[in-house]
Amino acid sequence: RDINLIINLDDIEEVAHQVLSKIGWSYYRSTADTGSAFDSNITAFSRYWFRPRVLRPVREIDTSTTILGIPSSLPIFVSPAAMAKLGHPLGEINITRGAYACGIIQGISSNASCTVDEIADARQGQQPLIFQLYVNKDHKITEDTLRKIDQLGFKAIMLTVDAPVLGKRELDMKARGLPVIRGNNNSGGEGTALRAGVANSLGGYFDANLNWEDLAWIRSITKLPIVIKGVQCVEDVELALQYGCAGVLLSNHGGRQLDYAPASIDILYELRQRRPDILDEKKLEVYCDGGFRRGTDVLKALCLGATAVGLGRPFLFANGAYGEEGVIKVAEVIGEEIATSMRLLGVTKLSELKPEMVTRMA
Ligand code: FNR
Repeated sequence: RDINLIINLDDIEEVAHQVLSKIGWSYYRSTADTGSAFDSNITAFSRYWFRPRVLRPVREIDTSTTILGIPSSLPIFVSPAAMAKLGHPLGEINITRGAYACGIIQGISSNASCTVDEIADARQGQQPLIFQLYVNKDHKITEDTLRKIDQLGFKAIMLTVDAPVLGKRELDMKARGLPVIRGNNNSGGEGTALRAGVANSLGGYFDANLNWEDLAWIRSITKLPIVIKGVQCVEDVELALQYGCAGVLLSNHGGRQLDYAPASIDILYELRQRRPDILDEKKLEVYCDGGFRRGTDVLKALCLGATAVGLGRPFLFANGAYGEEGVIKVAEVIGEEIATSMRLLGVTKLSELKPEMVTRMA
């Protein structure tokens, strides 16, 4: 389909479904177990409605923000997701180029299908990248990775903590995908007949004993700010704060890990109820991801106090469907939705989005 006929992110997913290989589609689209966590990521937004303001001048608006002090043209970033080459031969590099073109930050997966050197080479100028870390059972390997990331000039570490083991990804398992492309990691996994699939071929090296005390070890290797990815309740936001993290990404991993894990907008809502001080005083930055497909989804999270929102599958699907152009299209489409909805809400900058502009239905 002509890219000019794309009007929303669901259209891109539809095209991706048509053009991706069975293995690629199944790996990207896969969810854990019954898919309930994934479904609720999408449906949760329908419980949150706006309380817009009118008769405010909104001709000029500004959608830009900063994430960990890094300027971003939109309050969105590319959530780190593995194996972009399953969609397009240039893999993550298309996303790097596209992210630069639209002024947003890309998270690079530990399981990216391009090497970190290739991705770093694809940067333009001072283009900021964030590295997503899965800690290896062999801590020496992780130490080497962290040093390398520092040396390549990445801006932050996003430590994924919702995957001590991999969730049961059924679509992926059914496709029986074999690991056809290897990038950053060659460690492989325990690909038993039952757990065959792309995910399983990637996740065998994770340290399932990783815990809060390991943050001190990571800090002894790198001074980069640490964002904890995969926080799913208020108590763990408080611990992240206590342990000096720069941010938390509220996430259920796109519904790919624990089934019936909450949608990030619901975790954020609970945080807003119980610890508004953390959000209002920005004691750390709070981000969300999982199921964000519309400008209004993003604005709801910002009203409740999130700094920015990550998108995972939309960028993978777009890369698969249209390469770099598709990546840019995702930002254009959601950026335009954000701009329109800001005007309709009566705000001209993101800092004007307030909790009282959103209400939650039972
Ligand atoms: C992911 N995600 C992910 N997260 C992570 O920390 N490391 C990783 O390697 C991956 N890999 C990965 C692969 C694929 C195919 C998907 C779909 C997701 C999770 C990702 O960062 C993010 O949390 C979700 O994708 C957000 O949900 P949406 O936007 O895909 O609905």
